[in-house]
Amino acid sequence: MDENILHEIAGRFRLTGRIASVRPLGDGFINDTFIVRTEADAPDYILQRKNRTVFVDVPAMMENIRKVTEHIRRKVVAAGGDPLREVLEVIPTHDGALYHRDAQGEYWAVSRFIPDAVSYDRADTPALACKGGEGIGKFQSQLADFDEPLADILPGFHDIRFRFRQWDEALRRDAAGRRDEVAEEIGWIESRRERMLAFRRLAEEGALPLRVTHNDTKIANILFDRSGEVLCAIDLDTVMSATSLNDFGDAIRSYANTGDEDDRDPARVGLSMEMFRAYTEGYLSQRAAQLAPAELDNLAFSALYITYEQVLRFLMDYIDGDTYYKVKYETHNLVRTRAQYRLLLSMEEQYDGMCAAVREIAAKYR
Ligand SMILES: Nc1ncnc2c1ncn2[C@@H]1O[C@H](COP(=O)(O)OP(=O)(O)O)[C@@H](O)[C@H]1O
Ligand SMILES: [Mg+2]
Repeated sequence: MDENILHEIAGRFRLTGRIASVRPLGDGFINDTFIVRTEADAPDYILQRKNRTVFVDVPAMMENIRKVTEHIRRKVVAAGGDPLREVLEVIPTHDGALYHRDAQGEYWAVSRFIPDAVSYDRADTPALACKGGEGIGKFQSQLADFDEPLADILPGFHDIRFRFRQWDEALRRDAAGRRDEVAEEIGWIESRRERMLAFRRLAEEGALPLRVTHNDTKIANILFDRSGEVLCAIDLDTVMSATSLNDFGDAIRSYANTGDEDDRDPARVGLSMEMFRAYTEGYLSQRAAQLAPAELDNLAFSALYITYEQVLRFLMDYIDGDTYYKVKYETHNLVRTRAQYRLLLSMEEQYDGMCAAVREIAAKYR
């Protein structure tokens, strides 16, 4: 994008200092991110064009982020922390809005750049997995007493009942004519349907409380200081009210997989118990004292639930003719389906050990 246009957009926000440059910052997958450098010792800023395809209600999303970050900021200040580095700060426009909408209808938002932070693309050691768990655990724990309503930014997210409606419809439609070819894989889904619905009911019926969830728990979304301590969680576009188990299960699905999400060699895929323990250790060090017994009892299962949901979604997209996930080759979604199923099987085999690890680690921190 033309720097003059970016300059003009950044100028609509309440920045301190004169803008020196606006340059792309190339890490994120969802939004377009730019760094706004200012002159002298004024702070720098992050300018983002929010993804309108993924986020249909950007104003509601920005309001969620404002509420959550203001709550965390109060916590940080009360604890004597540094509010410039331990919480994301949304910068409003000169009119006091949380976003700017340009002539093309694109939404832009600005946050203060958090200086002297370290981030990681992936967690490939137990020590990093532990820190990642601590990052999300700290985020959830700072919001344990948050009680304002949050907009439902991604309706149906991690709701397997909603997915089954899409699934039944996709099977009926058989849009790409692939249904018969994947009869075995369909059986993997159907044989576990009741078990997964039973888990979902715990959330629907209130046995698992609603809490603030992050919903994009990858380690790239946590900033650390130079000594490796957690500063804060960023990328708060997907914060919502849901069971906190969603964040745990999704993190385990990616952190503890010994292979890749789309591994062509299923033998590489499985749950690493070591990584599972490490993530759980970091997470529960922040959360064990706050979680209800029903949450701890179901923590390990949430990893199976979220992995199962992903098997379903990849297979459904294959049956649909690859309309949702980007594919690099014809059977990419089928390869993803089989790789995630392999991970699910590995979790099922090690489920008793996962539950025992949760109990043992939780007992240390309660
Ligand atoms: N306030 C910030 N301070 C420092 N770095 C940031 C900030 N916001 C974003 N970043 C950097 O930009 C990257 C992309 O931003 P993110 O909000 O995660 O976008 P996406 O949704 O596209 O992943 C982050 O991984 C981080 O490295
Ligand atoms: Mg991100």
